[in-house]
Amino acid sequence: MTQVIRSSAELREKVATWKRSGMLVGVVPTMGALHDGHMSLVRAARKQSDRVIVTIFVNPMQFNNPEDLEKYPRDETHDLALLDEEGVDVLFAPGVAEVYPAGFATKVSVSGISEPLEGAFRPGHFDGVATVVTKLFGMTQAGRAFFGEKDWQQLQVVRRMVEDLNIPIRIIGCPTIREDDGLAMSSRNVRLSTEERASAPRLHAEMQIAAAAIRAGTPVAEALATAKAALSAAGFGPWDYLELRNAETLQPLDGLSEPARMLAAVGLGEVRLIDNIAV
Ligand code: PAJ
Repeated sequence: MTQVIRSSAELREKVATWKRSGMLVGVVPTMGALHDGHMSLVRAARKQSDRVIVTIFVNPMQFNNPEDLEKYPRDETHDLALLDEEGVDVLFAPGVAEVYPAGFATKVSVSGISEPLEGAFRPGHFDGVATVVTKLFGMTQAGRAFFGEKDWQQLQVVRRMVEDLNIPIRIIGCPTIREDDGLAMSSRNVRLSTEERASAPRLHAEMQIAAAAIRAGTPVAEALATAKAALSAAGFGPWDYLELRNAETLQPLDGLSEPARMLAAVGLGEVRLIDNIAV
């Protein structure tokens, strides 16, 4: 049975007993509303650690839009059943006051890599992510942490932070899990209307077409403009970005000389879709 723990003191005791017997502890940080993307991280953690903690905390500090925070889907009973089926040892689901008690005053801010793309369109978002992830690493004392490539920039921010702050944890990146039609799984997809859900996979499809064109020698700007125009005509918008970047530093690229990643963020109805692929 997956044990639910809400206090960090209790979690610390539990982890201390595991570590005394030499166990490797893996953590999968999430905000809940779990889907197969999250569960793929849980399965990776299960394979690569002796004990697995999944955290569920809808972190107010990383939401720059109060309505998005309010509407974020929450279903802990269902989540717990999924984690139990996968043999997860502990669900750590603290309340807001446990994570941010009165007097809380510290912020972790990763400059450079946090600034473009999501950082530019969601001010403060990565400070919120970096702060809560640092806290979750401290609270769980895990030796390995599993993150999805779905949130590519987040993965790079976390890697940078762990290196810069000498946090003794190994970060494992796991591939994006998609629906059969190519749409990247996301907790926010449930907010798409039937019609929007039907056109949503076009994002990944057009990104793949653009990536193939770039590999075949089409100028980057031209390939991206073609994809944007096709998607805008299919009802996507407003656009935040569709760009080719260096996969690690996220610096702009205008050719394929370095390991490259194509990253997108665009509105579809009420939902903001993000996706990224290797080029
Ligand atoms: P959340 O959006 O719940 O995602 C939790 C983890 O699942 C992240 O590492 C994310 O990249 C991964 N994930 C989401 N969808 C995925 C998919 N389709 N395929 C593979 N992995 C996927 O990301 C967060 O929460 C938060 O920012 C958090 C790191 C928990 C800090 O609050």
